[in-house]
Amino acid sequence: MRLTPDQQAMLDGAKGETLAKVMKTLVMYGEAFGAEEMVPVTAEKGHLVTSFGLSMMKPVYDLMDQLIEDGAVNGQKFSVDPRPLDPNVPMNLLQKLVFKFMYSKQDDYEAQLRQLGLLEDDAFTCTCYLPQVGNEPKQGQVLSWAESSAVVYANSVLGARCNRNSGILELFGSIAGCVPKFGLLTDEGRKASWVVQVKTSRRPEAQILGSAIGMKVMEDVPYIQGLDQWLGGQLDDAAKAYLKDMGAASASNGAVGLYHVEGITPEACQQGKILIRPDAQVYVIDDAELERVRASYPCIWKDPNAKPKLCFVGCPHLSLEQLNQWTGALCAALEQAGRKTVAVPTVFTAAPAVAKAFAKTPAADRLKGTGVVLSSICPLMYMNNPLSGKMPVATSSNKLRTYSSARYYTDAEMLQIMVKGEC
Ligand code: F3S
Repeated sequence: MRLTPDQQAMLDGAKGETLAKVMKTLVMYGEAFGAEEMVPVTAEKGHLVTSFGLSMMKPVYDLMDQLIEDGAVNGQKFSVDPRPLDPNVPMNLLQKLVFKFMYSKQDDYEAQLRQLGLLEDDAFTCTCYLPQVGNEPKQGQVLSWAESSAVVYANSVLGARCNRNSGILELFGSIAGCVPKFGLLTDEGRKASWVVQVKTSRRPEAQILGSAIGMKVMEDVPYIQGLDQWLGGQLDDAAKAYLKDMGAASASNGAVGLYHVEGITPEACQQGKILIRPDAQVYVIDDAELERVRASYPCIWKDPNAKPKLCFVGCPHLSLEQLNQWTGALCAALEQAGRKTVAVPTVFTAAPAVAKAFAKTPAADRLKGTGVVLSSICPLMYMNNPLSGKMPVATSSNKLRTYSSARYYTDAEMLQIMVKGEC
């Protein structure tokens, strides 16, 4: 690993023993992946994946204490993934007790995050890149992030450069101000080894298309053709929301960190087919393939015929555009069914800053009137315990389906569940 004099000095302890350990960890990480140099983190802000004060994560809290004590705080301000708790989200007494015990370190941990450089008290969301949140990297900027849904969005939709780092390593990159150069930070690593041809008869469900791509290409880079026609040929807010959900599904059902969409995403628009490696494989996705992928999802509810007890929409967090869209669709469906409120407790999740912006619109009162709870939690953290795991929870998120016992439904099916109580 070639280091600049400043990087070498940090490694040699010129800025203290703790920063030397931070740098040593980054160097070892880079060497494991064949990196030959470190490059500066050029994005203005960082983002941390570890947002939850789980009682069992003592080593993390000790590490944070040591970093703060030795002044190894962030060079960058940062946002953090969503909080695990919100008293407004439906839960029974037992769940309340379990959550209180599980996340008993939440307040202490958030105090540590503030000392380390938390952007603002409410900067807890996985969609930090949305304009309302204010952590939107620019094309070409180098990031040190780990949240898989945010990494794939930043790389693909914004054209920033970030590897799929792990938690804590991303914090170290932010503190040191540099990251090892390999993989998606290099021009070569951003080339596509798959051409995905979308040949469907209608706009594919973003969550199933992303899932199909992720399961096929795994950690490789796909170059997607034929999708631009379903996205209106431009990267507007609706297309960005679609790609956010598609990308999160590809990153969780596989390990995609970057995709190119012909005619839509910045690098595909600028470089076109030059991005495709000569030996790229081809994957054709038609209606039958999407059906096959959907049918392959196991249902791990205890009773597969149970009626859903809770619906989660917004993993990753919804954009403002999506909140408006869901509110409009839900109100129309309820009216058609002669109902005023949802038939199943339902939670929409969005970044605190997006929820604030939404609250200023007339749609906010309409949504409230339906009984839907608008929250900023991470649904996965709600689900990841034995009590919630036993509940029949419905979701439109393929990421939540993959990492929990929640069952996936398309957007249209979710609407039906919210209105009729079953699908
Ligand atoms: Fe975001 Fe939590 Fe889903 S971090 S992508 S809401 S699992």
